[in-house]
Amino acid sequence: MLKKNIKILGIETSCDETAAAVIEIRNQKILSKSNVISSQVKVHAKYGGIVPEVAARHHAENIIFVLQEALKSEKLDLKSIDAIAVTNGPGLITSLIIGFEAAKTLAFLTNKPLIPVNHLAGHIYANFINEYSKFQIPNPSKIFPAICLIVSGGHTELVLMKDFENFKKIGQTLDDAAGECFDKVAKILKIGYPGGPVVAAEAAKFKMQNSKVEIKFPRPMINSDDFNFSFSGLKTAVLYKTQSLGDSITRQMIPAICQETQQSIIDVLISKTIKAAKKFKIKSIILGGGVVANQELRRQFSLRAHQELADFKFYLPESIFCTDNAAMVAVAGYFKLIKVLPAQWLKKFDWRKIKVDSNLEI
Ligand code: KG4
Ligand code: ZN
Repeated sequence: MLKKNIKILGIETSCDETAAAVIEIRNQKILSKSNVISSQVKVHAKYGGIVPEVAARHHAENIIFVLQEALKSEKLDLKSIDAIAVTNGPGLITSLIIGFEAAKTLAFLTNKPLIPVNHLAGHIYANFINEYSKFQIPNPSKIFPAICLIVSGGHTELVLMKDFENFKKIGQTLDDAAGECFDKVAKILKIGYPGGPVVAAEAAKFKMQNSKVEIKFPRPMINSDDFNFSFSGLKTAVLYKTQSLGDSITRQMIPAICQETQQSIIDVLISKTIKAAKKFKIKSIILGGGVVANQELRRQFSLRAHQELADFKFYLPESIFCTDNAAMVAVAGYFKLIKVLPAQWLKKFDWRKIKVDSNLEI
Protein backbone atom coordinates (compact mmCIF):
# COMPACT_ATOMS: atom_id res chain seq x y z
CA MET A 1 0.00 0.00 0.00
CA LEU A 2 1.15 3.50 -0.84
CA LYS A 3 1.65 5.75 2.16
CA LYS A 4 -1.01 8.45 2.29
CA ASN A 5 1.45 11.33 2.48
CA ILE A 6 4.70 11.30 0.57
CA LYS A 7 7.45 13.88 0.86
CA ILE A 8 10.12 14.18 -1.81
CA LEU A 9 13.27 16.28 -1.82
CA GLY A 10 14.17 17.53 -5.31
CA ILE A 11 17.63 18.72 -6.39
CA GLU A 12 18.40 20.57 -9.64
CA THR A 13 21.75 21.85 -10.94
CA SER A 14 21.59 21.19 -14.69
CA CYS A 15 22.44 24.71 -15.78
CA ASP A 16 23.00 27.87 -13.73
CA GLU A 17 20.41 27.61 -10.95
CA THR A 18 21.29 25.72 -7.78
CA ALA A 19 17.92 24.53 -6.52
CA ALA A 20 16.39 22.32 -3.86
CA ALA A 21 12.74 21.88 -2.93
CA VAL A 22 10.42 19.71 -0.92
CA ILE A 23 7.00 18.68 -2.12
CA GLU A 24 4.34 16.80 -0.25
CA ILE A 25 1.64 14.71 -1.89
CA ARG A 26 -1.45 14.71 0.27
CA ASN A 27 -5.03 13.87 -0.72
CA GLN A 28 -4.01 13.68 -4.39
CA LYS A 29 -2.67 17.24 -4.24
CA ILE A 30 0.94 18.21 -4.84
CA LEU A 31 1.96 20.84 -2.32
CA SER A 32 5.09 22.92 -2.60
CA LYS A 33 6.56 22.91 0.92
CA SER A 34 9.76 24.76 0.04
CA ASN A 35 11.33 25.94 -3.20
CA VAL A 36 14.83 27.40 -2.91
CA ILE A 37 16.68 28.69 -5.97
CA SER A 38 20.09 30.29 -5.93
CA SER A 39 20.41 32.00 -9.29
CA GLN A 40 23.75 32.76 -10.94
CA VAL A 41 22.24 35.24 -13.39
CA LYS A 42 24.32 38.16 -12.11
CA VAL A 43 27.51 36.11 -12.32
CA HIS A 44 26.96 35.12 -15.96
CA ALA A 45 25.42 38.45 -17.07
CA LYS A 46 28.85 40.01 -17.55
CA TYR A 47 29.76 37.27 -20.04
CA GLY A 48 26.38 37.48 -21.84
CA GLY A 49 25.93 33.72 -21.41
CA ILE A 50 26.67 30.79 -19.13
CA VAL A 51 30.31 29.88 -18.54
CA PRO A 52 30.21 26.16 -17.57
CA GLU A 53 33.29 26.19 -15.33
CA VAL A 54 32.04 29.21 -13.42
CA ALA A 55 28.56 27.68 -13.07
CA ALA A 56 29.98 24.45 -11.67
CA ARG A 57 32.09 26.26 -9.12
CA HIS A 58 29.09 28.24 -7.88
CA HIS A 59 26.96 25.10 -7.64
CA ALA A 60 29.66 23.47 -5.52
CA GLU A 61 29.84 26.50 -3.22
CA ASN A 62 26.06 26.85 -2.85
CA ILE A 63 24.54 23.39 -2.90
CA ILE A 64 24.76 22.65 0.85
CA PHE A 65 23.30 26.04 1.80
CA VAL A 66 20.46 25.64 -0.69
CA LEU A 67 19.67 22.15 0.64
CA GLN A 68 19.79 23.39 4.22
CA GLU A 69 17.41 26.23 3.38
CA ALA A 70 14.96 23.94 1.55
CA LEU A 71 14.77 21.63 4.53
CA LYS A 72 14.77 24.42 7.11
CA SER A 73 12.01 26.59 5.72
CA GLU A 74 9.34 24.03 6.57
CA LYS A 75 11.11 22.62 9.61
CA LEU A 76 11.63 19.45 7.62
CA ASP A 77 14.42 17.08 8.27
CA LEU A 78 15.83 14.35 6.15
CA LYS A 79 14.18 11.67 8.27
CA SER A 80 10.72 12.80 7.17
CA ILE A 81 11.64 12.63 3.47
CA ASP A 82 10.53 9.47 1.64
CA ALA A 83 12.73 9.82 -1.44
CA ILE A 84 15.26 12.11 -3.13
CA ALA A 85 14.83 13.11 -6.79
CA VAL A 86 17.68 14.60 -8.78
CA THR A 87 18.14 15.82 -12.34
CA ASN A 88 20.49 13.40 -14.11
CA GLY A 89 20.31 15.13 -17.53
CA PRO A 90 20.20 16.77 -19.98
CA GLY A 91 22.39 19.75 -19.11
CA LEU A 92 25.94 20.89 -18.58
CA ILE A 93 27.87 17.88 -17.33
CA THR A 94 30.03 19.92 -14.94
CA SER A 95 26.88 21.45 -13.40
CA LEU A 96 24.78 18.28 -13.33
CA ILE A 97 27.41 16.36 -11.45
CA ILE A 98 27.39 18.69 -8.44
CA GLY A 99 23.69 18.20 -7.64
CA PHE A 100 23.95 14.55 -8.57
CA GLU A 101 26.83 13.80 -6.22
CA ALA A 102 25.15 15.73 -3.41
CA ALA A 103 21.97 13.70 -3.94
CA LYS A 104 23.92 10.45 -4.03
CA THR A 105 25.65 11.32 -0.78
CA LEU A 106 22.30 12.03 0.91
CA ALA A 107 20.79 8.82 -0.44
CA PHE A 108 23.80 6.84 0.80
CA LEU A 109 23.74 8.40 4.28
CA THR A 110 19.98 8.13 4.78
CA ASN A 111 19.35 4.89 2.88
CA LYS A 112 16.54 6.56 0.89
CA PRO A 113 15.55 5.87 -2.73
CA LEU A 114 17.29 8.13 -5.28
CA ILE A 115 15.13 8.86 -8.33
CA PRO A 116 16.89 10.09 -11.49
CA VAL A 117 14.81 12.74 -13.27
CA ASN A 118 14.93 13.98 -16.85
CA HIS A 119 15.03 17.79 -16.64
CA LEU A 120 12.61 18.09 -19.58
CA ALA A 121 10.07 15.81 -17.91
CA GLY A 122 10.45 18.11 -14.91
CA HIS A 123 9.41 21.11 -17.04
CA ILE A 124 6.26 19.22 -18.06
CA TYR A 125 5.43 18.08 -14.52
CA ALA A 126 5.86 21.66 -13.28
CA ASN A 127 2.23 22.04 -14.36
CA PHE A 128 0.99 19.82 -11.57
CA ILE A 129 2.46 21.76 -8.64
CA ASN A 130 0.38 24.48 -7.16
CA GLU A 131 1.51 26.71 -4.40
CA TYR A 132 -1.94 27.22 -2.95
CA SER A 133 -3.25 23.65 -3.33
CA LYS A 134 -5.82 24.68 -5.87
CA PHE A 135 -6.30 21.41 -7.70
CA GLN A 136 -5.83 17.68 -7.49
CA ILE A 137 -3.62 15.55 -9.70
CA PRO A 138 -5.77 15.08 -12.81
CA ASN A 139 -7.18 11.75 -13.83
CA PRO A 140 -5.00 10.51 -16.74
CA SER A 141 -8.04 9.51 -18.82
CA LYS A 142 -9.21 13.14 -18.72
CA ILE A 143 -5.99 14.79 -19.91
CA PHE A 144 -4.17 12.31 -22.16
CA PRO A 145 -3.19 12.18 -24.94
CA ALA A 146 -1.55 15.56 -24.45
CA ILE A 147 0.77 17.58 -26.61
CA CYS A 148 3.59 19.14 -24.58
CA LEU A 149 5.72 22.04 -25.77
CA ILE A 150 8.99 22.39 -23.89
CA VAL A 151 10.69 25.72 -24.56
CA SER A 152 13.80 26.60 -22.60
CA GLY A 153 17.30 27.96 -23.05
CA GLY A 154 18.62 24.63 -24.28
CA HIS A 155 15.56 22.90 -25.78
CA THR A 156 12.54 23.39 -28.00
CA GLU A 157 10.64 20.13 -28.28
CA LEU A 158 7.16 18.85 -28.98
CA VAL A 159 6.33 15.75 -26.98
CA LEU A 160 3.28 13.53 -27.27
CA MET A 161 2.30 12.26 -23.84
CA LYS A 162 -0.13 9.33 -23.65
CA ASP A 163 0.00 8.89 -19.88
CA PHE A 164 2.10 9.98 -16.93
CA GLU A 165 5.60 8.68 -17.73
CA ASN A 166 4.74 7.92 -21.37
CA PHE A 167 6.58 10.43 -23.56
CA LYS A 168 7.29 10.43 -27.29
CA LYS A 169 9.27 13.25 -28.86
CA ILE A 170 7.68 14.24 -32.19
CA GLY A 171 9.74 17.32 -33.06
CA GLN A 172 12.59 19.51 -31.92
CA THR A 173 14.74 22.43 -32.96
CA LEU A 174 17.27 21.66 -35.64
CA ASP A 175 19.61 24.38 -34.36
CA ASP A 176 19.07 27.03 -31.66
CA ALA A 177 16.41 26.69 -28.95
CA ALA A 178 13.78 29.44 -28.63
CA GLY A 179 15.25 30.66 -25.32
CA GLU A 180 18.72 30.65 -26.85
CA CYS A 181 17.38 32.85 -29.65
CA PHE A 182 16.03 35.34 -27.08
CA ASP A 183 19.40 35.26 -25.30
CA LYS A 184 21.44 35.74 -28.49
CA VAL A 185 19.24 38.55 -29.79
CA ALA A 186 19.65 40.36 -26.46
CA LYS A 187 23.40 39.90 -26.78
CA ILE A 188 23.43 41.30 -30.34
CA LEU A 189 21.39 44.32 -29.16
CA LYS A 190 23.50 44.61 -25.97
CA ILE A 191 20.42 44.92 -23.77
CA GLY A 192 21.21 42.39 -21.03
CA TYR A 193 21.02 38.78 -19.91
CA PRO A 194 19.07 36.52 -19.79
CA GLY A 195 17.52 37.59 -23.05
CA GLY A 196 13.91 36.44 -22.60
CA PRO A 197 12.83 38.92 -19.92
CA VAL A 198 14.76 41.88 -21.43
CA VAL A 199 13.51 41.27 -24.99
CA ALA A 200 9.98 40.94 -23.57
CA ALA A 201 10.37 44.24 -21.68
CA GLU A 202 11.57 46.05 -24.85
CA ALA A 203 8.69 44.53 -26.84
CA ALA A 204 6.24 45.81 -24.21
CA LYS A 205 7.74 49.32 -24.63
CA PHE A 206 7.09 49.08 -28.36
CA LYS A 207 3.41 48.49 -27.69
CA MET A 208 3.20 51.20 -25.03
CA GLN A 209 4.87 53.76 -27.27
CA ASN A 210 2.43 52.90 -30.03
CA SER A 211 5.48 52.89 -32.28
CA LYS A 212 5.04 53.09 -36.05
CA VAL A 213 8.43 51.52 -36.84
CA GLU A 214 7.90 48.49 -39.08
CA ILE A 215 10.31 45.59 -39.09
CA LYS A 216 9.66 42.17 -40.55
CA PHE A 217 11.54 38.99 -39.68
CA PRO A 218 10.91 35.44 -40.98
CA ARG A 219 8.81 32.79 -39.19
CA PRO A 220 11.25 29.90 -39.71
CA MET A 221 9.71 26.52 -40.62
CA ILE A 222 6.23 27.70 -39.71
CA ASN A 223 4.73 25.80 -42.67
CA SER A 224 7.06 22.79 -42.76
CA ASP A 225 5.41 19.37 -42.88
CA ASP A 226 7.07 18.15 -39.70
CA PHE A 227 7.05 19.26 -36.06
CA ASN A 228 10.61 20.58 -36.05
CA PHE A 229 11.77 24.13 -35.40
CA SER A 230 14.70 26.34 -36.38
CA PHE A 231 15.60 29.64 -34.74
CA SER A 232 19.16 30.35 -35.87
CA GLY A 233 17.93 32.10 -39.06
CA LEU A 234 15.84 34.49 -36.98
CA LYS A 235 18.89 35.35 -34.87
CA THR A 236 20.89 35.95 -38.07
CA ALA A 237 18.11 38.20 -39.47
CA VAL A 238 18.36 40.31 -36.29
CA LEU A 239 22.14 40.43 -36.62
CA TYR A 240 21.96 41.65 -40.25
CA LYS A 241 19.30 44.23 -39.41
CA THR A 242 21.36 45.54 -36.49
CA GLN A 243 24.50 45.68 -38.60
CA SER A 244 22.67 47.51 -41.39
CA LEU A 245 21.44 50.11 -38.93
CA GLY A 246 24.97 50.55 -37.54
CA ASP A 247 25.40 53.52 -35.24
CA SER A 248 22.03 54.85 -36.29
CA ILE A 249 20.25 52.23 -34.17
CA THR A 250 17.95 54.24 -31.96
CA ARG A 251 16.01 53.65 -28.77
CA GLN A 252 12.97 53.31 -31.04
CA MET A 253 14.47 50.62 -33.20
CA ILE A 254 15.43 48.30 -30.33
CA PRO A 255 11.84 47.89 -29.04
CA ALA A 256 10.70 47.32 -32.66
CA ILE A 257 13.34 44.61 -33.23
CA CYS A 258 12.46 42.95 -29.91
CA GLN A 259 8.73 43.06 -30.64
CA GLU A 260 9.18 41.41 -34.03
CA THR A 261 11.63 38.80 -32.70
CA GLN A 262 9.28 37.87 -29.88
CA GLN A 263 6.27 37.76 -32.21
CA SER A 264 8.10 35.54 -34.69
CA ILE A 265 9.00 33.05 -31.94
CA ILE A 266 5.45 33.13 -30.55
CA ASP A 267 3.86 32.61 -33.99
CA VAL A 268 6.01 29.58 -34.77
CA LEU A 269 5.58 27.95 -31.34
CA ILE A 270 1.80 28.35 -31.36
CA SER A 271 1.29 27.23 -34.98
CA LYS A 272 3.36 24.10 -34.63
CA THR A 273 1.78 23.09 -31.32
CA ILE A 274 -1.77 23.58 -32.59
CA LYS A 275 -0.94 21.62 -35.73
CA ALA A 276 0.27 18.72 -33.56
CA ALA A 277 -2.77 19.05 -31.28
CA LYS A 278 -5.07 18.62 -34.29
CA LYS A 279 -3.12 15.72 -35.77
CA PHE A 280 -2.98 13.69 -32.55
CA LYS A 281 -6.50 14.58 -31.39
CA ILE A 282 -5.28 15.57 -27.97
CA LYS A 283 -7.24 16.24 -24.80
CA SER A 284 -4.80 18.82 -23.47
CA ILE A 285 -1.94 21.16 -24.30
CA ILE A 286 0.83 21.34 -21.71
CA LEU A 287 3.53 24.03 -21.84
CA GLY A 288 6.78 24.07 -19.88
CA GLY A 289 10.22 25.69 -19.69
CA GLY A 290 11.67 29.14 -19.06
CA VAL A 291 10.23 30.73 -22.21
CA VAL A 292 6.72 29.94 -20.94
CA ALA A 293 7.30 32.72 -18.37
CA ASN A 294 6.73 35.05 -21.35
CA GLN A 295 3.41 36.82 -20.74
CA GLU A 296 2.69 37.51 -24.42
CA LEU A 297 3.29 33.86 -25.28
CA ARG A 298 0.90 32.78 -22.51
CA ARG A 299 -1.78 35.26 -23.58
CA GLN A 300 -1.60 34.63 -27.31
CA PHE A 301 -1.33 30.86 -26.90
CA SER A 302 -4.49 30.68 -24.83
CA LEU A 303 -6.34 32.94 -27.25
CA ARG A 304 -5.39 31.07 -30.42
CA ALA A 305 -5.72 27.58 -29.00
CA HIS A 306 -9.24 28.35 -27.79
CA GLN A 307 -10.09 29.79 -31.22
CA GLU A 308 -8.77 26.81 -33.14
CA LEU A 309 -9.44 23.81 -30.90
CA ALA A 310 -12.60 22.60 -29.26
CA ASP A 311 -12.84 21.03 -25.84
CA PHE A 312 -9.30 20.71 -24.52
CA LYS A 313 -7.50 21.53 -21.29
CA PHE A 314 -4.74 24.11 -21.31
CA TYR A 315 -1.88 23.76 -18.82
CA LEU A 316 0.56 26.55 -18.03
CA PRO A 317 2.88 26.30 -15.02
CA GLU A 318 2.76 29.10 -12.47
CA SER A 319 5.47 31.59 -13.50
CA ILE A 320 7.88 30.59 -10.69
CA PHE A 321 7.74 26.99 -11.88
CA CYS A 322 8.53 27.84 -15.55
CA THR A 323 12.23 28.60 -15.15
CA ASP A 324 14.53 26.02 -13.59
CA ASN A 325 13.53 24.91 -10.11
CA ALA A 326 13.75 21.75 -8.01
CA ALA A 327 10.04 21.44 -7.17
CA MET A 328 9.42 20.28 -10.74
CA VAL A 329 12.18 17.69 -10.31
CA ALA A 330 10.57 16.42 -7.11
CA VAL A 331 7.18 16.14 -8.87
CA ALA A 332 8.72 14.25 -11.80
CA GLY A 333 10.33 11.98 -9.20
CA TYR A 334 6.94 11.37 -7.61
CA PHE A 335 5.40 10.16 -10.88
CA LYS A 336 8.30 7.72 -11.35
CA LEU A 337 8.13 6.54 -7.76
CA ILE A 338 4.45 5.62 -7.80
CA LYS A 339 4.97 3.31 -10.78
CA VAL A 340 6.89 1.07 -8.38
CA LEU A 341 5.61 -0.74 -5.27
CA PRO A 342 7.00 0.78 -2.02
CA ALA A 343 8.70 -2.49 -1.10
CA GLN A 344 10.74 -2.19 -4.33
CA TRP A 345 11.67 1.49 -4.02
CA LEU A 346 15.13 1.00 -2.57
CA LYS A 347 16.01 -1.74 -5.00
CA LYS A 348 14.75 0.10 -8.07
CA PHE A 349 16.05 3.54 -7.07
CA ASP A 350 19.45 2.48 -5.80
CA TRP A 351 21.99 5.33 -5.91
CA ARG A 352 24.71 2.93 -7.06
CA LYS A 353 22.89 2.23 -10.32
CA ILE A 354 22.21 5.79 -11.44
CA LYS A 355 24.35 7.76 -13.90
CA VAL A 356 24.39 11.33 -15.18
CA ASP A 357 23.93 11.87 -18.91
CA SER A 358 24.32 15.38 -20.30
CA ASN A 359 22.54 14.34 -23.54
CA LEU A 360 19.68 12.47 -21.92
CA GLU A 361 16.60 12.40 -24.19
CA ILE A 362 12.99 12.44 -23.14
O1 KG4 B 1 14.04 26.46 -18.40
P1 KG4 B 1 15.10 27.47 -18.19
O2 KG4 B 1 15.09 28.21 -16.87
O3 KG4 B 1 16.54 26.85 -18.34
C1 KG4 B 1 16.84 25.86 -19.27
O4 KG4 B 1 16.46 24.68 -19.03
O5 KG4 B 1 17.41 26.24 -20.31
O6 KG4 B 1 14.99 28.49 -19.40
C2 KG4 B 1 15.85 29.58 -19.51
C3 KG4 B 1 15.47 30.32 -20.77
C4 KG4 B 1 16.43 31.43 -21.13
O7 KG4 B 1 16.80 31.28 -22.48
C5 KG4 B 1 15.64 32.69 -20.89
O8 KG4 B 1 15.99 33.76 -21.75
C6 KG4 B 1 14.22 32.22 -21.15
O9 KG4 B 1 14.17 30.93 -20.61
N1 KG4 B 1 13.22 33.08 -20.50
C7 KG4 B 1 12.31 33.78 -21.18
C8 KG4 B 1 11.59 34.53 -20.21
N2 KG4 B 1 12.10 34.24 -18.98
C9 KG4 B 1 13.10 33.34 -19.18
N3 KG4 B 1 12.03 33.86 -22.50
C10 KG4 B 1 11.05 34.68 -22.90
N4 KG4 B 1 10.35 35.47 -22.04
C11 KG4 B 1 10.57 35.41 -20.72
N5 KG4 B 1 9.86 36.17 -19.87
ZN1 ZN C 1 15.13 24.12 -17.79
